Amino acid sequence: MPPLLTWETKKQPAPIQGFLKTESVIFPQGTGYPPSGAADDFPNRLIWGDNLAVISALMPQYEGKIPLIYADPPFFSNRHYPARIGRGEDSRRPREWQLAEGYTDHWQDIDTYLDMLYPRLVLMHRLLSPTGTLYLHLDWHANAYARLILDEIFGAEQFLNEIVWVYHGPSPIRSAFNRKHDTILVYTKSPEYTFNVDAVRQPYDPTTIKTFSSSAKAGFGKIPDLARGKVPEDWWYFPVVARLHNERTGYPTQKPAALMERIILASSNPGDIVADFFCGSGTTSAMAAQLGRHFIANDITWRAIHTTKNRLLSGSCPPFIQQVFDSEKNLEIGEQPNFPVNPDWAGMITRKAESIEIDSLLLPSLDSLEAGVYTPDHIYHSITQAVRPFRRKTIPPRLSIPSHLVKHPIVVRMTMINGKQEQILIE
Ligand SMILES: C[S@@+](CC[C@H](N)C(=O)[O-])C[C@H]1O[C@@H](n2cnc3c(N)ncnc32)[C@H](O)[C@@H]1O
Repeated sequence: MPPLLTWETKKQPAPIQGFLKTESVIFPQGTGYPPSGAADDFPNRLIWGDNLAVISALMPQYEGKIPLIYADPPFFSNRHYPARIGRGEDSRRPREWQLAEGYTDHWQDIDTYLDMLYPRLVLMHRLLSPTGTLYLHLDWHANAYARLILDEIFGAEQFLNEIVWVYHGPSPIRSAFNRKHDTILVYTKSPEYTFNVDAVRQPYDPTTIKTFSSSAKAGFGKIPDLARGKVPEDWWYFPVVARLHNERTGYPTQKPAALMERIILASSNPGDIVADFFCGSGTTSAMAAQLGRHFIANDITWRAIHTTKNRLLSGSCPPFIQQVFDSEKNLEIGEQPNFPVNPDWAGMITRKAESIEIDSLLLPSLDSLEAGVYTPDHIYHSITQAVRPFRRKTIPPRLSIPSHLVKHPIVVRMTMINGKQEQILIE
C-alpha cells in the first residue's frame, strides 16, 4: 500500500449543477468574422468562474481530450496579491502605485487549502487525454503535500519530473537562505505521453563545446551531439517578470512567457488544446496562441479575465469565445448588468462613415473598447477592438469599422481602468 495523504475533510469532488454561458465571441481585429459555425464550436475559450464548477461543466465535452494542463494555483502563502495598473510603480514608492483587486491566497489552515486543491486535481486528471501531461506549479509552502496527492491521483509511476524554476530577486529574509525557486510537478496520464525533445533542446554551454572540441574523450564516455544541442536539465533559470519587462501586465505573480513556451513546446503539438484553469494574466493562453495551439483559459477573478483578454488582443490571436459559469440556465447574457447601457456616452463616442471616434477626455480612463454587434441569441460579436497597452499609454482615439458593418447599428463596449463596464448603441 503506497503512502497516502489524508486530512479530516478530504473528499472526492461532488457534481456541480450549472452551465457555461457564451457571453461574447471575440474576433481580434475582425479575424475570422463572420464565423461559419456556432459559437460553441470555437476551440479557444476564456472562462470566468470558479474552476471547480467550470471544469465540471466542461467535463461532458472534454473528458479525456486535453493534451496539456498547466496549473498555477495560489501557493498557500497566506498573502493578498493586488494587481498594479500601468507604469507609476516605482518600487521605492509603493504609496504611488495604482492598485486594483488582484487575488487572495489566504486559508484557514492547510486542510482548507487542500480541500480547494485536491478535487480540482482529480478533475484535471480526468480531463487529460491518454497521452496528456499536467504541470502543477507550486513552491515550498505546499509542494510536499501536492506530490503525495498527485501520486495518489495519477499513480506514483506517472511522475515525470520535478522541475525547479530558479530566479533572483530581493527578499526581506535575513535568518535563512533566500527562497528563490518554485517547484513544478509533472505527471503524465499514461506511460505513452507527448514529449517533443527536439523542440526544447538548448545550445551546449561554451565551456562544454570547447572541452569536447579539444578532446572527444572528455566527460563520462558519452560524446554529445554539439550541433543538435542538449536536453534541458530539470532546473530552469528564467528571470521573473519584473517591472520594466515588456511582457509585464501588472497582474500579480505573472509567470514568464519563456517558462510557458518551454512547457508548451515539450508537452503539446500544434493544434492541441492547452488548458489553464488558474490563468491569472493569461501567460499560458498567450503563448499557446503564439505557438499554434488552442487554449482554454479560466480564472475566478474578473481582473484576471480582463487582463488575459487584453493580452490576447495585444498579440496575434485567433477568435475565441468568452464564457461565464452560471448555475441558472435561462439568463440572457446580453442583458446581464455586467455591461449596462449608458446613453451618456453618446456625445463622447461618435460614428463617422467608417470609423468610431472617441473624445480625448474619455481616453485616459479607458482600458479597452470594442465595437461589434449582438446576435439574435444575445451573444456579442466583438469585431474590432482597441486595448490600452499595459504600460499605460492611452488607447487610440479612432477605431475603424469593417466595411460589411458600415451600414449596421454598432454596439460599443467600454471597459474602464477601474473595472467599470458599459455599452452604448450607435446607429
Ligand atoms: C498564481 S496566479 C496565476 C498566475 C498566472 N500563471 C500568470 O502567469 O499570470 C493564481 C490564479 O488563480 C486564480 N484562482 C484562485 N482560485 C481559483 C478558482 N477556484 N478558480 C479559478 N481561478 C482561481 C487567482 O485568481 C489567480 O489569478
